[in-house]
Amino acid sequence: GFQLGDGVYEVVRFENGRLLWLEDHLGRLDGSLEQILLPHALDGHPLAEVLPELLRRSELRQGTAYVQVTRGAAPREFGLPTDVPPTVLAYVQAHAFPSEDELRSGIAVHAVEDQRWARCDIKSTNLLPAVLAKQVAREAGAQEALYVSAEGTVREGGSSNAFIVLDGTLRTHPANNRILNGITRCHVLDLAREVGVPLLEEAVHVSDLPRASEVFIASTTRDVMPVVRVSGLDSGVFTPGDGTPGEVTLALAAAMRSLIARCVGAGPRPPSAPA
Ligand code: PDD
Repeated sequence: GFQLGDGVYEVVRFENGRLLWLEDHLGRLDGSLEQILLPHALDGHPLAEVLPELLRRSELRQGTAYVQVTRGAAPREFGLPTDVPPTVLAYVQAHAFPSEDELRSGIAVHAVEDQRWARCDIKSTNLLPAVLAKQVAREAGAQEALYVSAEGTVREGGSSNAFIVLDGTLRTHPANNRILNGITRCHVLDLAREVGVPLLEEAVHVSDLPRASEVFIASTTRDVMPVVRVSGLDSGVFTPGDGTPGEVTLALAAAMRSLIARCVGAGPRPPSAPA
């Protein structure tokens, strides 16, 4: 795991002592493990019990749980090692999710060429392309990178999914090998259907981006976050809509906020600390 970056991970939000959509995250982790030929790595690691316990011991109220599973520690060899126990790491940390003010301000994104591999559906710990893309974005004054393929297909954010309102329809890249199918993305799509927003899981070409009336990103750590400035395009800098968060984005952000509040407010609480 250390030498080859041979591992997968998850980031789970928690609030009010509860892990949000934990089953979805653990399901995706199982899928990633299967894809990297490490299907039984979590046998003997009941994360559905370990993570709530970790959270309880931390006494944190709001933040993220990080889980990483690698193929384990072995002499450097490309072939899969035999009889090496996978390394399973988990921790929790405090995280402040976007405030109402931050939501109203929105963020800037900077388009960069997507130079990742062709299995972005696997939540791999190989994050060097994201590290470099986000640095380019940061130097351009943006808070997130926007991956665009060499052919001009808008794919997703550096660590988020991208949504674009174009001609009155909410568009996002289909969940294939070119993006990570975000847990937040899936809930955004459900909410859009509930709210009655016309929806198309079809990628937008970068040349159409300047016509977009709204752009937002979505992820575990950033919720639904409006994008008010897009740079890095051949056509220069553009401002979706009037440069403030749009109607569809704000409706979905509000719907997401109440969905999360309902999810972390319901269900069994983790067991209380022994006296
Ligand atoms: N990243 N796309 C990419 C490339 C991501 O890394 C992430 C999440 C998402 C959104 O997925 P989700 O809604 O399940 O968080 C999309 C996490 C937050 C990270 O690496 O920190």
